[in-house]
Amino acid sequence: MRLHSMPPVSQDGQLGPFEHGTSIPPGLTAPASAPKKKQNIQDASKEQLMTEVEALEQRLTAQSDELRQTTLQLASAEQRERDRLARILHDDLQQLLLAAKWNLRSVKKQLRTNRPLCEELSHAIQMVDRSIEISRSLSRDLSPPALDSGLLPAIEQLVEHFQDAYGFSVRFSVDGTLPEISNALRDLLFQSIRELLFNAAKHSGQNHAELRLRERQGVIEIVVSDEGVGFDLRELGHTIAKGSGLLGISTRIRRMSGQLNIETAPGAGATFRLLVPWGSPTKETS
Ligand SMILES: Nc1ncnc2c1ncn2[C@@H]1O[C@H](COP(=O)(O)OP(=O)(O)OP(=O)(O)O)[C@@H](O)[C@H]1O
Ligand SMILES: [Mg+2]
Repeated sequence: MRLHSMPPVSQDGQLGPFEHGTSIPPGLTAPASAPKKKQNIQDASKEQLMTEVEALEQRLTAQSDELRQTTLQLASAEQRERDRLARILHDDLQQLLLAAKWNLRSVKKQLRTNRPLCEELSHAIQMVDRSIEISRSLSRDLSPPALDSGLLPAIEQLVEHFQDAYGFSVRFSVDGTLPEISNALRDLLFQSIRELLFNAAKHSGQNHAELRLRERQGVIEIVVSDEGVGFDLRELGHTIAKGSGLLGISTRIRRMSGQLNIETAPGAGATFRLLVPWGSPTKETS
């Protein structure tokens, strides 16, 4: 019985249960001839090796799946935190600033005859107005209201915001239709697109860029390109070390089994291509 339950070949490649001179238990066939025996050993070794490779592959798949889930959970958690900050800005800070503005206005009305004081109050009101504007813009940057409606409406809103706030125009196009993706992946892609567009606005020296999206064979492709100053790809290490934006994107995208490809040269613009598999063998975080 023991013979049946033991593996034919041990871990170190040795033949298992049969030892020289061991009698053959009843029910088992006679030992094979020498070449046949050798062939059996080889077959058994091959089989065991394949089983081990299979097990390793399964472990690797499970681990990369886990990494994917963690990355998505992180993106979700980050977005939730942004939403929370945006709510504080919108619900608390902006209300307080508005109240301060009404108070200043009412004091100004009462001091109509005191011109120098009225001028100072007008100046204070202007500063409060500017603070309200900044707080509004910040809360929209942190948590675009359209994100709940999906990636494309959020991008459209972002593009509009770039035009209004920075005079930076983005030509945005989608080739075909995009698949339904989890909220966590949506957040991750949105954060990456926003960073790449911010980079184009900040670093390219141009006032326009292009954003293209498409899906091909289970992979979402996002391309952000500009015709600006570009940079030397041989200096990529130093370039990436300058800020946290590109590093953050490439780390997250790699964890998703995706890629960030950069094509650029000094004076020749920059093209950032994100390739992100959107499906998952297991259920993604929603
Ligand atoms: N579109 C672009 N055109 C030219 N240079 C770019 C472009 N995008 C990025 N770079 C270069 O790559 C560097 C790294 O970008 P990254 O987003 O990581 O950092 P940052 O934008 O400088 O700072 P942070 O994102 O942390 O606010 C930039 O400082 C810039 O030199
Ligand atoms: Mg940046």
